[in-house]
Amino acid sequence: MFIVMEGGDGVGKSTQLSLLQQDLQKRGYRVTVCREPGSTRLGEAIRQILLHERSLSIDRMSELLLFMAARAQVTSEVIRPALARGEVVLADRFLLSSIVYQGYAGGLEIDSLREIGRIATGNLQPDLTILLDLPIEEARRRRCGEPDRLESESALFHEQVREGFLAEACRSEGSIWVVPASQGVEELHQQILTRVEYLLKEGSSPG
Ligand code: TYD
Repeated sequence: MFIVMEGGDGVGKSTQLSLLQQDLQKRGYRVTVCREPGSTRLGEAIRQILLHERSLSIDRMSELLLFMAARAQVTSEVIRPALARGEVVLADRFLLSSIVYQGYAGGLEIDSLREIGRIATGNLQPDLTILLDLPIEEARRRRCGEPDRLESESALFHEQVREGFLAEACRSEGSIWVVPASQGVEELHQQILTRVEYLLKEGSSPG
């Protein structure tokens, strides 16, 4: 079972992902967690370049292809082998992030981007994408530490990211589940856990 957690910067993805991991493990599921970009040596090296090399000039297309290279590597090195072992894979971001950040907000052509993504992942599709949704002002207040290269984009960019995620959820026919992230951490976690356990027991996503 392949489950992806998505959302804008500061919505609380990482917290929810680790709570979900802990509770699934307590219930006896074998869980592999990965993040994008990252979770492989190549992916972590690309992460360093993309997010922290602030003096490097990287245009949108190069940025996209670097995210896609990290994605191709984590798909073949981590995700597919874990799925083949029958594990639950929880991913902190996947292709939808590129469609939204580099496409809707970054201005790259979305259909070409879907095609590049299809090639990079061998058309691997999540069983469920959990989209944590939060107004951008609230998300900005929650972010802590030095902003990385993408977090430093304008408020307009982040607004387009949020709108892009919601637009993709609308056209997804239920495979992207929008969850309002302004509720409390524990309440949000219970809501997510209930749906994921249902999915794991039924082997298919409720509508
Ligand atoms: P992330 O690790 O989720 O950052 P944080 O934990 O601080 O929320 O994501 C790193 C940044 O990279 C985030 O700003 C979103 C961006 N990103 C893209 O622009 N395109 C992509 O394809 C991915 C995976 C991430």
